[in-house]
Amino acid sequence: MKRVFSGVQPTGNIHIGNYLGALKQFVELQDENECIYCIVDMHSITLPQEPKELKKHILDVAALYMAVGLDPKKSTIFVQSQVPGHAQLSWVLTCSSYTGELSRMTQFKDKSKGKESAPAGIFTYPVLMAADILLYDTDIVPVGNDQKQHIELCRDLAIRINNRFDKKVFVVPDGRFMKSGARIMALDDPSAKMSKSAPNPKSRISLLDEPGAIKKAIMSATTDSEGTIRFDLEEKPGISNLLNIYSAFSGLAVEDIEKKYEGCGYGAFKKDLVEVTVDALAPIRERFGEIRNSKELTDALKDGAEKANAISEKTMQRVYKTFGLGI
Ligand code: AMP
Ligand code: TRP
Repeated sequence: MKRVFSGVQPTGNIHIGNYLGALKQFVELQDENECIYCIVDMHSITLPQEPKELKKHILDVAALYMAVGLDPKKSTIFVQSQVPGHAQLSWVLTCSSYTGELSRMTQFKDKSKGKESAPAGIFTYPVLMAADILLYDTDIVPVGNDQKQHIELCRDLAIRINNRFDKKVFVVPDGRFMKSGARIMALDDPSAKMSKSAPNPKSRISLLDEPGAIKKAIMSATTDSEGTIRFDLEEKPGISNLLNIYSAFSGLAVEDIEKKYEGCGYGAFKKDLVEVTVDALAPIRERFGEIRNSKELTDALKDGAEKANAISEKTMQRVYKTFGLGI
């Protein structure tokens, strides 16, 4: 059995891009593997968070994990800050990282924009992410393409430390990336990735959106003036994005959807897509409502933190011994 680890930041507005790119993979993997899924709250404070909002978002993401189908009997679900090993291993890995390689991370370059006042946390963010993964002897990390460079750094660190001590201190993990079709673009601008933080709420469909909001976002989605429903990323990025969403939620192949809507206008196609999306998200919203304030949720997180801690403590003993730390 392979060990799987992944995490999502509790920063609100979890959208269908997060779902189709990451969360859906998490659910698929849980039957055949030993899966550990984390709510990475320590990553989210790399940018200032309002404490009350952060608490709420942590429980929202945990409830969403379960609402999309993660089963705490099969998968370990927990909150990062409840397991001290993440911060402990992060420091050890920081001391094995080079400032040069961290400076080359595109996410750091984008977010710091070369400013002196850039928070040091966005510089060391990928080291904490490597600690998350290596702490659990992870084999597979399901994430979106945007995390490829961070996974590469994690592998480099594991290999570097294994070579230095000439033994297998860490398992070297592999990323599991989504197919290009699962990259969901913003509805108002199909050249940008759908994102949690874009100012226009109609640019995304959040997993908990009411049917009315879903309808508004889809009906106003940017298309083109050609009038035919055809997949063409270059010429028709808006319609292609909508076709991807339709396909992911209905299970139909894109070609079959194209055939179904031959001769139809964009209005009819969008109206049906609203229905497909509302139907797909309704059970998630319903389950979220049942679980968000339940004891089942807090019990699952408590149990998850205990299980994660047990694995983490063993790894940290091995790591401290290898590095000669402690007495
Ligand atoms: P984040 O929103 O950065 O916390 O990302 C959580 C997970 O969702 C990561 O694995 C991302 O790669 C993935 N993800 C984020 N945005 C998208 C998108 N627009 N399409 C597909 N996957 C995404
Ligand atoms: N950096 C990831 C993101 O923004 C979140 C994350 C943190 C993560 N630690 C992780 C993903 C460990 C996979 C494994 O999406």
